[in-house]
Amino acid sequence: MTIDQGTWWRDAVVYQIYPRSFADANGDGVGDLVGARSRVPYLAALGVDAVWLSPFYPSALADGGYDVDDYRAVDPRIGTLDQFDALVAALHAAGIRLFVDIVPNHSSNRHAAFQAALSAGPGSPERDRYLFRPGLGPDRALPPTDWTANFGGPAWEPVGDGEFYFHLFAPEQPDWNWANPLVREDFLTTLRFWADHGVDGFRIDVAAALAKDFSADPLPSAAELAAIPFGPTHPFYDRDEIDEIYAGWRAAFDEYDPPRVAVAELWAEPSPRKARYAKILGQAFFFDFLHAGFDARRVRRVVDDVLSWTAASGSAPTWVLSNHDVVRHATRFGLPDVDSDDIWAGDRRDRRWLAARGAEPAEDVEAGLRRARALTLFMLALPGSSYLYQGEELGLREVADLPDNARQDPIFARSGGRDIGRDGCRVPLPWTPGGPSFGFGPGGAHLPQPAWFKTYAVAVQESDPASTLNLYRRALAARRDLLARPGVSNDLTWLPTDDHVLAFARGPWTCLLNTGTTPVPLPEGEIIVASGDLDDDQSSVPGETAVWLLT
Ligand code: GLC
Repeated sequence: MTIDQGTWWRDAVVYQIYPRSFADANGDGVGDLVGARSRVPYLAALGVDAVWLSPFYPSALADGGYDVDDYRAVDPRIGTLDQFDALVAALHAAGIRLFVDIVPNHSSNRHAAFQAALSAGPGSPERDRYLFRPGLGPDRALPPTDWTANFGGPAWEPVGDGEFYFHLFAPEQPDWNWANPLVREDFLTTLRFWADHGVDGFRIDVAAALAKDFSADPLPSAAELAAIPFGPTHPFYDRDEIDEIYAGWRAAFDEYDPPRVAVAELWAEPSPRKARYAKILGQAFFFDFLHAGFDARRVRRVVDDVLSWTAASGSAPTWVLSNHDVVRHATRFGLPDVDSDDIWAGDRRDRRWLAARGAEPAEDVEAGLRRARALTLFMLALPGSSYLYQGEELGLREVADLPDNARQDPIFARSGGRDIGRDGCRVPLPWTPGGPSFGFGPGGAHLPQPAWFKTYAVAVQESDPASTLNLYRRALAARRDLLARPGVSNDLTWLPTDDHVLAFARGPWTCLLNTGTTPVPLPEGEIIVASGDLDDDQSSVPGETAVWLLT
């Protein structure tokens, strides 16, 4: 089992499109594939190597499309299979590869297999495709365990005949039974289906939870479960049998030339174990930057750790500052607790909300953007692959103050409104400073856009050389040139610096990040890109600024 061939993804910059919020061609307020295709020239000008398309499959949107009704079709509100093919062709013609999101832990409760399981009844082969268990108690009315689902509430849902089914997320997202060979076969068919449609890679949702072992009798209580480490003894996170599942996927990927690749979404699994997914699949997400704040020492530690874990497994490092599940980094870095590592617990999201209502120290918008630009430039100089989330190239902030009745994320309703959820980073993008939905489409936007989006619009930033969009464009173009330059290596050498400053060299390419607030001397060399204005004599790097140099 090797991943030697087809290594384009090892240093790819991948741009995540959350399709319902990217670009809307038909004016129904929901982004679509024709809209996305119309923006391929924008993506090419931005200079990304690949796109990762979040779910575009038919779905009741109980969880933003991560509740899939049919894995081998396109949501009619988003487009058709022909339009998907046209998008792939346009991306490929522009030299951009495509990852699609694959959601193998759970389907939606509207999926034909789940509907069949409900009608077939207890003990049937149909039920064996999911995780049904008899209830407890004399009339089987009690759930098999007291476990809580990730979005709140019980993890077991009764179906009215004495059985319950397991759902790690919302009740509308029943978990598949991966011990059933039919489930395995069906997913291989799905992977081949999209690979045959030209897809270059897959992003695997909740990648560590597929293999489950619920055979213990009794099953552990919620309190006992919380004490079991992720890994071989945990009933559903990061079990060893998962390797066998992904070995099957790797064999399917290797049927193609070039072989397909995948990136595993793994949040809380111990990072050294993540490398084992990357070894089989190609990549795993290392979300460690999300917990490092804007702190030089912690950032350096993340870089060292991720480089050593990936080197040990022969896989490629991945770097992430934002995605559709977390508070946008321009906002995270603008909050008083900028170095908190609690980026997605509900109370922190709620602080965004309180700040937006003036009940907390407000977000420092300028500092947030300055730090976001600096850390992004630092990230883009690292060896490996960087994942960007739509809108971060505009320096977009979190929209914290959405009206409650507009919120769509199940986390909001399932926490009884205690956690405002993830909608704030999913508001449709502003393309123009005016017009309906700021150029997102000819109609409205499915989540309301704030008036301040106007100043962040693509069209506004295009004509401003100092804009964040132009910084990303310059950085990505320079990165491409630098990677092709003789002597630029994948090994990174740290250069000696003061506290608050990080500097490393990859051969002649040097990157310096000043996380402090006072200027530090600029090393010798030709300045390639800087995340902010340098002094006139260009002898120093101001606070909260990063610079690339050619030495
Ligand atoms: C992943 C997705 C997230 C989704 C969850 C359940 O974490 O990124 O958006 O809610 O899986 O599918």
